[in-house]
Amino acid sequence: MEEKTLHRPIMVNGVIKFLIQKEDGLYIDATLGCGGHSLAILSSSRNSVIGIDLDPDQIRIATERLSNFMERFLPVQANYRFIDQFITKKVDGVLFDLGYSSYQLDNPVRGFSYRENGPLDMRYGKHGITAYDLIENRNQDEIADLIYHYGGEHNSRRIARKIKEKKPRTTGELAILVRKSFPREKGHKHLGRIFQALRIAVNKEMENIEEGIIGASKILKKKGRLVIVSYHSEEEKLICRKARELELKSLTKRVVTPDRIEFQENPRCRSAHLRAFER
Ligand SMILES: C[S@@+](CC[C@H](N)C(=O)[O-])C[C@H]1O[C@@H](n2cnc3c(N)ncnc32)[C@H](O)[C@@H]1O
Repeated sequence: MEEKTLHRPIMVNGVIKFLIQKEDGLYIDATLGCGGHSLAILSSSRNSVIGIDLDPDQIRIATERLSNFMERFLPVQANYRFIDQFITKKVDGVLFDLGYSSYQLDNPVRGFSYRENGPLDMRYGKHGITAYDLIENRNQDEIADLIYHYGGEHNSRRIARKIKEKKPRTTGELAILVRKSFPREKGHKHLGRIFQALRIAVNKEMENIEEGIIGASKILKKKGRLVIVSYHSEEEKLICRKARELELKSLTKRVVTPDRIEFQENPRCRSAHLRAFER
């Protein structure tokens, strides 16, 4: 991918400010994506980065992009949930930039976007059940619960009934079903909630984040930094609860949000919230 087609990494100035305390430290980018944050870390210092992602396509793209830094950059295809099992050294900082990347969202084959038609997949990695399998395997009440809890959608029972009746196979079919359920409203508000809920359930995101934060706190050196960029309230509640339980010191008394210029450049950062902690 060409550099100009890649978005500026979200809240990169805040990430660097809170994460990097050294010039020759070891940092983990637990959500490598297209490697934007890793590139910023590697080019601003002599620090080393281990970049983790579940998605082999992201590993390939980021590795190509960071090819000038290979003596200080190591890509690892893995689930960050198990971070403390495969990172055996103590590190100076860990970054999580949660959710999907723009590359994944813009690729219809991955099934993350309700704006494009593609298979109802939504997996970050290439293994495990897809969103279509999840709809097949779960009963109506279970689907309603996850739409309510992970998407905050109050019409979850009605939508779950329609999903089970129609069994959509594609993002397009699901989008039509949701829009038809709210004929008098702009459907995209509900679409966003329902796609978010299915994606979180397919990838077991809440469990991954919880275990990932616990693992990260185990591999951090004393005074090492944990920086997390999150995009919705369920993630935020979980992050704050885990940080309290693990007695991590909060460095961001108030959550940090993108500035106006970043907001204009990249509307996807709209809901981004940065929190930083010290061990
Ligand atoms: C928001 S993107 C990161 C973008 C990145 N910071 C950049 O600058 O390009 C999140 C990435 O995390 C990856 N991811 C999501 N869940 C994961 C998990 N449990 N383990 C490892 N990677 C995961 C996704 O595949 C995606 O590439």
